[in-house]
Amino acid sequence: QGQAMWGGRFSAKPSDLMQAINVSIGFDKRLWAQDIAGSKAHAAMLAKAGVISSADEAEIQRGLDTVRGEIEAGTFPFRDEYEDIHMNVEARLRELIGPTAGRLHTARSRNDQVALDFRLWVREAAERSAAQIDDLIGALLAKAEAHADVLMPGFTHLQPAQPVTFGHHLMAYVEMFGRDAGRFRDARERMNECPLGAAALAGSPFPIDREMTAKALGFARPTANSLDSVSSRDFALEALSAASICATHLSRLAEEIVIWSTPQFGFVRLSDAFTTGSSIMPQKKNPDAAELIRAKVGRILGSLTTLTVVMKGLPLAYSKDMQEDKVPTFEAFDALELALLAMAGMVRDLEPNVERMAAAAGAGFSTATDLADWLVRKLDLPFRDAHHVTGAAVKRAEQLGVDLAGLPLAELQALNQGISEDVFEVLTPAASAGSRVSYGGTAPSEVRAQIKRWKDSLR
Ligand code: ARG
Repeated sequence: QGQAMWGGRFSAKPSDLMQAINVSIGFDKRLWAQDIAGSKAHAAMLAKAGVISSADEAEIQRGLDTVRGEIEAGTFPFRDEYEDIHMNVEARLRELIGPTAGRLHTARSRNDQVALDFRLWVREAAERSAAQIDDLIGALLAKAEAHADVLMPGFTHLQPAQPVTFGHHLMAYVEMFGRDAGRFRDARERMNECPLGAAALAGSPFPIDREMTAKALGFARPTANSLDSVSSRDFALEALSAASICATHLSRLAEEIVIWSTPQFGFVRLSDAFTTGSSIMPQKKNPDAAELIRAKVGRILGSLTTLTVVMKGLPLAYSKDMQEDKVPTFEAFDALELALLAMAGMVRDLEPNVERMAAAAGAGFSTATDLADWLVRKLDLPFRDAHHVTGAAVKRAEQLGVDLAGLPLAELQALNQGISEDVFEVLTPAASAGSRVSYGGTAPSEVRAQIKRWKDSLR
């Protein structure tokens, strides 16, 4: 019985319902590696500080190694009656090495223990997410470089706006994902303080060395306030915020891939590896992976909401409410990891239909702004007047059923005497995109410069 741990105070067993609502081993077993690492660092510190003997420490270390081996081998008996991962490990340690196991919990509480284990887990998750984002960025950079000159329509309101290049469009996501990786790395730095040694809430009267355990577990320093150490989960909230924002970016790219891969758009072909067929409609090739990535943000943002509401209004210090931090966090990072990996795979396999994209790039009078700009530059018209003349040109082209470049020069001259033959040079999508050489603009030369900057920074 778990209550053997505190049996001194209790004479009756917990009700089955108490057990059912309290037990967490089913999900917090995922913290086993962190729990053992924390216990090993704690035991080494207790021995160095003279709180336990080195003989006892050696036994504890050996026992913890055995526990680790059993868990790795899948033979460890996870038991509900020991409630959580911390007491499961300790109970097994006692079976293995006897009463000496009881010395491990000196100067420690499950409150600082779980704060440590969970922080270690979230730290690793943040590192993993940042690395997976880097990989996705690598996939986007490769596609962007291969297609830096491929013209496509740029949209606003999902209506044709101005021609851009496919490389430029992909690089927009590189910027977003770059900030996402940065958010995970920032969160990691902020959370990198060790709560172990805060004990239940007030610290410990034993001569513990918190610097030593912090260093052993890869932290920059120990946390500075024992109450904060066991009460705070903002490190997880921050990581979940970063995950939610990243999932939003994944969702937008996924949505564009869904649209681009429709026969109506026909901008990209998805590989068989990331699509599915239909059990009834033989012609179907559905972008299920993209759709599922688009949806994952629901789960991930939901997890942020869950944990925010759990933490809201909690008085200091530890309350059992905080046990509800793990499931949403695990779920969010499982979902994000899958989404990032699937997106990287899908992007690597993505094949643009260069002709379709280029043809669409010129549709919808997408070079109207270039005509207006030409009127400003060549005829010194105020932009508002140029805008008006160009609007009239679009109206006329629409009546004649041609695009702007297809308008006879005489038609343009009817709108403004000064328009000359060389105006047609700026009306092609390639000229339009190629002219936008301002820093961060869509000209292939500029896009290539941005790709190079990213590649240098990732190397
Ligand atoms: N299983 C608990 C949790 O996840 C561990 C901490 C329990 N501490 C306590 N005082 N009951 O939060």
